[in-house]
Amino acid sequence: MEITDELIKYLSELSVNEVLQFCTEQFPGKVSFSSSLGYEDQVLTHFIFTGNHDIDVFTLDTGRQFPESYSVLRATEERFQKRIRVLFPKHELVQDYVDTHGINAFYESPELRKGCCAVRKIEPLKRALAGKKIWITGLRAQQSENRSDLPMIEYDAGFDIVKVHPLLHWSLDEVKETVKKYNIPYNVLHDRGFVSIGCAPCTRAIREGEDFRAGRWWWESNSKKECGLHEQR
Ligand code: ADX
Ligand code: SF4
Repeated sequence: MEITDELIKYLSELSVNEVLQFCTEQFPGKVSFSSSLGYEDQVLTHFIFTGNHDIDVFTLDTGRQFPESYSVLRATEERFQKRIRVLFPKHELVQDYVDTHGINAFYESPELRKGCCAVRKIEPLKRALAGKKIWITGLRAQQSENRSDLPMIEYDAGFDIVKVHPLLHWSLDEVKETVKKYNIPYNVLHDRGFVSIGCAPCTRAIREGEDFRAGRWWWESNSKKECGLHEQR
């Protein structure tokens, strides 16, 4: 697939349902959506399931999620009567990492933190995307500086896949309004100041006025606050 400025512009003017349809028409049976079960992703799950789009919906269970994330996962499956694929890390890799570095080594250095993400997120993500052509995410431009200039469709050389971000131009308010409008199940942590929800030991609530990403890996002031899922650009 050739990614041109015209294609980016064309997709930016479509509705979410139309973007999803475009993806499945381009590559039937080869489209996956990775859900962190956060606000944005719940909106996409709603559109995928209610629109009956042939898209594989999966989440990465790092083994360090919040209990609330499992609750919203189950509530979502019940609500839409669909199964969300849950990917786990390879136990040998987690075992090795913890044997060598300890259970909470991610607090010790950015390298060890990225090592943990590599084992618990990136390796399972590679397996989840194997054989797929399009990877849909819930990234929004307003989430961070890193994400502000993302195109709606891009080629990710690291994962050798085309990424599409249907909610790229949405505001957080639009996301919240849609969750409310359709009564979509959502993670109750959002009501307690969490905007972006990752692993429990690495995510905290943010205070008013703080940057959206301030609650992720907050002890690292200099890193770009990405875990490797979205930095192969
Ligand atoms: S992260 O890179 O910092 O972890 P963030 O929480 O902002 O990402 O989520 C951005 C997008 O990454 C989500 O919309 C989703 O597509 C994907 N993502 C993040 N965490 C997970 C997860 N645990 N399982 C599946 N996809 C995820
Ligand atoms: Fe490990 Fe934290 Fe990355 Fe989760 S977010 S995989 S616990 S370093």
